[in-house]
Amino acid sequence: MRVSVIGCGYLGAVHAACMAKLGHQVVGLDVDEAKVADLSAGRPPFFEPGFGDLLAEQTSSGRLEFTTDPDRIADAEVHFVAVGTPQLQGRYAADLTYVRAAIDTILTHADTSAGPVVIAGKSTVPVGTAQRVQESANASGKDLVVVWNPEFLREGFAVEDTLKPDRIVYGLPDDPDRASIGKRVLDECYASLLGLGIPRMLTNQPTAELVKVAANSFLATKISFINAMAELCDATGGDVTQLADAIGYDPRIGRKFLRAGVGFGGGCLPKDIRAFMARAGELGVDEALTFLREVDAINLRQRDKAVDLASDLLGGRFVGHRVAVLGAAFKPNSDDLRDSPALDVAQQVWARGADLAITDPAAATALRSKRPNLNVVDTVDEAVRDADLVLLLTEWREYIDLDPVVLRGLVRTPIIIDGRNVLDPQRWTDAGWVYRGMGRHGGPTTAAGW
Ligand code: UDX
Repeated sequence: MRVSVIGCGYLGAVHAACMAKLGHQVVGLDVDEAKVADLSAGRPPFFEPGFGDLLAEQTSSGRLEFTTDPDRIADAEVHFVAVGTPQLQGRYAADLTYVRAAIDTILTHADTSAGPVVIAGKSTVPVGTAQRVQESANASGKDLVVVWNPEFLREGFAVEDTLKPDRIVYGLPDDPDRASIGKRVLDECYASLLGLGIPRMLTNQPTAELVKVAANSFLATKISFINAMAELCDATGGDVTQLADAIGYDPRIGRKFLRAGVGFGGGCLPKDIRAFMARAGELGVDEALTFLREVDAINLRQRDKAVDLASDLLGGRFVGHRVAVLGAAFKPNSDDLRDSPALDVAQQVWARGADLAITDPAAATALRSKRPNLNVVDTVDEAVRDADLVLLLTEWREYIDLDPVVLRGLVRTPIIIDGRNVLDPQRWTDAGWVYRGMGRHGGPTTAAGW
């Protein structure tokens, strides 16, 4: 099939390369010339395991090209919309500027003279957007069918998640004839995935839009739930990792996404729950989602708690103390600094006067340009040398595997805050460290009432 992908950021670039891998002829369109030049040359503009090889393979196969020229998308049978929907400055709502621009481009350039063409929305949008897009498409006089086809990929697993998704959702138009065209075209597009037995769900447009934000809200809620339990553990002497293990054995709960720590960040969960609340307000059902305010507040409080814990361990002041921060990206296997809890904590510690050194295996370059105030170093050894406190904030494998005995020889004072609860407290304590996790034996044991 001939496929276009509008927007070649994280989602779009990976989707385009994966569609080429499935055998389609793909054009990726983006307004950013530098990004298009990188992608065309087979150079990934971001860090993502497996993407570089796939990109190089597909661009040289001749099935995948990137362009800034919208005329090149004209003959596609399906146009995927994969542009960003960031949070509006100073507001909760999503900024739909890029979605509108992408749709305008399709309405202007799509050639429907040979039959109906599908617009497949992948961007995370406020519910109701697909119907508006369909109305604009109808008004354009072109034969365009809008299907909302949300994407659930995780950074760090983007290629794997695109080529082996848990499910594929089609949000189809209400008109049965239009719906059957949308279904037929996307079935052809995803034929090799559907052949693997990946579940496909057919629903209407609003449900498909809601599926995405509901999934992300649920994941965010799970993380904030366990972080709330971490606060209780800190207040009582409990251990939140053991608590998570114990409740996670219940298959109705499950252990995944119950890792307490400095909380969630990135380009999706924080802004998606806020945009969802804003949309609920517009729809007059804001009360249905007020709990997400608390989810957001618990999440942000974890960052402050990490800073307060660091301050306590340093005797109440950062000035005159050297602090090493391990990790800046919002999660491992990513160089993404968007709304990163690690970066937020590091910035706060720096702002309070610490002599701070920060390192990250993938995000160092992005970090240097985004936060020139911070002392970014290339290795763990440089970061921790003579430190009075080590903060582990992104759980890169190489940090989990650090040897506490070796590290002890480099620091001035062996105190570590495990902001992701990934280290073995006993091992670090045995090596002479003061170990503090988040919700792991952090506070006094109280036996109120006895
Ligand atoms: C998320 C969704 O998982 C994905 O389905 C959607 O398409 C996009 O948003 P992503 O942002 O890549 O993906 O990251 P994810 O793996 O979900 O992690 C989000 C944040 O939650 C990270 O900051 C991570 O460190 C944090 N997290 C995750 C926790 O704090 N605890 C956990 O138990 C799990």
